[in-house]
Amino acid sequence: MGIVYDENNKTLTLHTKNTTYQMQVDRYGFLLHLYYGKRAEGCMDYLLTYYDRGFSGNPYEAGNDKTYSMDALPQEFPSLGTGDYRTPACIIKNTDRTYCSDFRYESHCIKEGKYDLEGLPAVYAGAREAQTLEVVLSDRVTGVRAKLLYGVLPEYDIITRSVRIINASSGHISVKKLAPACLDIVGGKYDFITFYGRHAMERNFQRMPIGHGISKIGSLRGTSSHQYNPAVIVADRETTEDAGACYAMAFVYSGGFQSEAGQDQYYQTRVLMGFSEEQFAYPLNPGEEFQSPEVIMSYSSEGLGKLSQNLHCCMRRHLCRGKYKETVRPILLNSWEASYFDFTGESLLKLARQAADLGIEMFVMDDGWFGNRDSEMRGLGDWKVNEEKLGCTLGELIGKINDMGLKFGIWVEPEMVNEDSDLYREHPDWAFVIPGRRPNRSRHQLVLDFSRKEVVDYIYEQICGVLDQGNVEYIKWDMNRSITDVYSATANSQGRVLHDYVLGLYDFLERIVERYPDILIEGCSGGGGRFDAGMLYYTPQIWCSDNTDPVDRLQIQYGTSFIYPASSVGAHVSASPNHQTGRCTSLKTRGVVAMAGTFGYELDLGEISEEEKDEIRVQIAQYKEFAPLVQKGMYYRLTNPQTADEGAWEFVSEDQREALVQAVSVRQHANMTVDYIKVKGLKENTMYRETESGRLYNSTALREAGIPMPAELGEYRAYQWHFVQEEA
Ligand code: GLA
Repeated sequence: MGIVYDENNKTLTLHTKNTTYQMQVDRYGFLLHLYYGKRAEGCMDYLLTYYDRGFSGNPYEAGNDKTYSMDALPQEFPSLGTGDYRTPACIIKNTDRTYCSDFRYESHCIKEGKYDLEGLPAVYAGAREAQTLEVVLSDRVTGVRAKLLYGVLPEYDIITRSVRIINASSGHISVKKLAPACLDIVGGKYDFITFYGRHAMERNFQRMPIGHGISKIGSLRGTSSHQYNPAVIVADRETTEDAGACYAMAFVYSGGFQSEAGQDQYYQTRVLMGFSEEQFAYPLNPGEEFQSPEVIMSYSSEGLGKLSQNLHCCMRRHLCRGKYKETVRPILLNSWEASYFDFTGESLLKLARQAADLGIEMFVMDDGWFGNRDSEMRGLGDWKVNEEKLGCTLGELIGKINDMGLKFGIWVEPEMVNEDSDLYREHPDWAFVIPGRRPNRSRHQLVLDFSRKEVVDYIYEQICGVLDQGNVEYIKWDMNRSITDVYSATANSQGRVLHDYVLGLYDFLERIVERYPDILIEGCSGGGGRFDAGMLYYTPQIWCSDNTDPVDRLQIQYGTSFIYPASSVGAHVSASPNHQTGRCTSLKTRGVVAMAGTFGYELDLGEISEEEKDEIRVQIAQYKEFAPLVQKGMYYRLTNPQTADEGAWEFVSEDQREALVQAVSVRQHANMTVDYIKVKGLKENTMYRETESGRLYNSTALREAGIPMPAELGEYRAYQWHFVQEEA
């Protein structure tokens, strides 16, 4: 299978279907990285070069050999203190208060199946679908060990990496920096592709050259954040959507992170993915161990499109879990943009009736149903149904909604508290506040200290108390601020609190997933502020952005698509003019863009005309037809909406018999020129019928020459073509 140890060359090689990853235990016991790229056999240690490296350090064993330096050799897990002055993957403060770690190979073992990580989200696979390599490194002076874990999923071209730090020393140590994945590449010129943004404008694509000096992205917010996403791509400078080498690193983690990329003095590239260093110092007493989350890595020699598909397939099938992971999700109506906090039980029921009449399948009651929550100012933390506002119990409300033939879903924000709440009045010390300081507020709320088990336990009981009141089939799990004022009264070090917070969150979510296996959970954090592979383990879909404007969404969903599958992207049709941008777009355009994700509606159905209602009925029927293709098909980006006159993308069924091409014009000019959308992923030289027009097309011509984008008058027009292979 995938993992091979060569005793002669001391190489450990990880093969997937199309890729090979190789490392070598060298003459001094260092674990060097040799190769990650297109599948190849043999020993790649000829890539290592030895020259006098000037002012770089030489390990003592190298004697007078100035050509041996860790400052130039590619490594699997570089640490501070070996003469490598590049940015390290690991810094440990030892018992003697020094910062040196000199990790050398001790042992390795190969196991069937993929390792799992207790208390952390991780890619999972059956015993025959994956293998695990464990390599134990140790610092012979301190006794500290690093156990490197590699999970190999050959069919998916996926390799995962994690590391476990074991304090086998005799004293207390502290992990100051930890990046479970390091990618050292000796030759070539690369770009760093990252996804930046802000609230309501997340995951914009950015591609910049990796040069001398460090390019660093990350989050100090305690969550993965709107500002940078914890996933990066390293692409050869010539790589395009369809050709060329590229690597992905997606952190399966929802807390603070950082990714650093830079060229060293010899023009070699190093890229790291791991915890953010700020506020991180994880203490370990003798005998204690620290398990890092994992990073999903993939390599494609066929451009960015294939790289994204590798990630999508892995996340969909081997990270997302539960009843809904591969099932078409219910079409929902969310009450937020319909009425915000301003509703009663009666108005909700009216909205639900309108939704049922259109063929919508689930009604979601968003924020405002609990405590004294009628604005952002108060109520978070008091998970008691406001029966006065609803005019009935929650059970009764759900019953009435179910009677309309609709499923029922509910919004919660368990990690938060308002100062104006009974919970805060009773337990002010449960919120993150630094003694002697006044806390930073954000959206008028504070963050609960989920690093403390009693806080998690209490809120868990409250939330279960709500969920148990009726037939709840969906939860929207929100988190509406970044964390500040990190202080936990019970922690033995404040440097562990942010990570323990994330562990507390995961523990809570795991308990919910186990107790309510049939409930679909949608993640959310002011839209897409915590859109990461860690959350996808618990919530197979995530509200992509609070921005529901379809034109902005083109860009947001484009960036998101590089890493995350369409099945995870929450996308709704909302009102026009749009509430976030004021832009007017047609119902068709809003529908086409929302159909490229998990589809729903989020608007006041009482405000729309009968014609629009008819159009929605057609839209719903159409989504039901396309949903399996959207959720399980291969995703292709056909244009870059940041630069092209249109946004266009495509879903192709795995058997390549069916495809859906969707496009929205974004720039309109007089006497418009015609763009041709090149259709990808179909069988070679095969006839396909476009189902709406009934016209036959040849797949090779569709790919090589494309299909003309209609040059109609009007802004933001949407088009879709549904191709089905013609039976011979
Ligand atoms: C966040 C979410 C919204 C909505 C509000 C409710 O902003 O992203 O969709 O649920 O909270 O307060």
